[in-house]
Amino acid sequence: MEWHVHKAQTLHCELEVPGDKSISHRSVMLASLAQGSCAVRGFLPGEDCLSTMEAFRALGVKIERLAPTTLVIHGTGGKFHAPTSDLDCGNSGTTMRLLSGLLAAQPFETRLIGDASLSKRPMKRIIEPLSKMGARIDAETPPDRPPLRIHGGSLKAVDYTSPVASAQVKSAILLAGLFASGTTSVTEPHLSRDHTERMFEYFGITLKRDGLRVSVEGGQRPQPRDFRVPGDVSSAAFWIVAAAARPGWKLRVNQVGLNPSRTGLLGILARMGARVREFEHSNLGEPIGTLEIEGAALKATRIEGKEIPNVIDELPILAVAAALAEGTTVIADAAELRVKETDRLAAIASHLKAMGVPVVEHADGLEITGCKSLRGATLDSLGDHRIAMAFAIAGLFAETETIITGTECVNTSYPGFYDVLQKVMSHRPSPDALVISQEETADSPDL
Ligand code: S3P
Repeated sequence: MEWHVHKAQTLHCELEVPGDKSISHRSVMLASLAQGSCAVRGFLPGEDCLSTMEAFRALGVKIERLAPTTLVIHGTGGKFHAPTSDLDCGNSGTTMRLLSGLLAAQPFETRLIGDASLSKRPMKRIIEPLSKMGARIDAETPPDRPPLRIHGGSLKAVDYTSPVASAQVKSAILLAGLFASGTTSVTEPHLSRDHTERMFEYFGITLKRDGLRVSVEGGQRPQPRDFRVPGDVSSAAFWIVAAAARPGWKLRVNQVGLNPSRTGLLGILARMGARVREFEHSNLGEPIGTLEIEGAALKATRIEGKEIPNVIDELPILAVAAALAEGTTVIADAAELRVKETDRLAAIASHLKAMGVPVVEHADGLEITGCKSLRGATLDSLGDHRIAMAFAIAGLFAETETIITGTECVNTSYPGFYDVLQKVMSHRPSPDALVISQEETADSPDL
């Protein structure tokens, strides 16, 4: 599929976005581990999270899907059945890495497979710590690429210092730690998203945090609890940047997750000159609220160091913000982007250049010099949902048409993105905001 994107005349919008991807994965995992049934509302019906749901069904967990975004999960207390075939993680690194942590402790063998992109992603980062805990995990494609064959068994606790700030690595170890004898600890170089820790606590698992070190005592199981998934701030980020980049444009995002380990984008845009306001309305494990953005003539900035893990998924769209800002923005310490769904540093550099933006590519980052206007181009998603969406937003600022090809991948994280894009493109300046809601209440029966 391809999208044809043309210049937007305005952005004045109030919207909700689909459920948070990271939290949706974890809600299925924690509820499957619980001793009893849990209702999950606001679940992201994207392909990545459906891969997680299907994997747990294949492991013997009964999951009822009462509506696209409403699940009732009958947890097994951590006892799973050996699946009768390979577990297909699709495009989802989170599914493969977190599931590896859980499967490392099961008394059977499993094989995890993924699509062409996932089959190229490094797995040593989880194989190493899980092996230290006593698991045997074979990566079938050297040096450490999927498929993964996991020979599970009893685990011993580990005190592991991760070389990368990765929530997937931290979470795989903590999930394995629930099954290990003793106290499992993980220390990361910078704080990565802390959804697993928050969800453990929400589901009644005791956890200890000491700076960048987090520890869990083995043998604990989640209590059954109902859970609401907030809107995904990483999905909202595309509209947030669009609104932030022009004076007079404005956006309100409702029911969105405001976890501070995910909202680094907001501070960066404020530093670049946009007006950003956050209002937290509730906090049931995860903070949820409203964001208001008012656009400005953006100025260049530096994004590096401990800020990087906080905006790891927002760097493609922040690069678009940089292309629309005055001056040269520097992104450094971001080599992790090379091992995402595609090599995002290379993809951003080539696509921005195609739109007429001066870019210097470094091993761990980019220097992007903003332009007054962008040039339309034909750009491929490279199978990466965030590249497709970031450059569709860039197309809203280009003088001529932009075509994005290979856009099916967007269904992994943001089904419905293109519908919103089309509404934004056809919205004319008017005092009335364009209002876009997620239809969860309409399809979600009372439980
Ligand atoms: C995720 C962690 C991040 C992020 C990914 C989702 C998670 O990956 O990029 O989209 O849900 O734990 P890393 O752990 O590889 O940084």
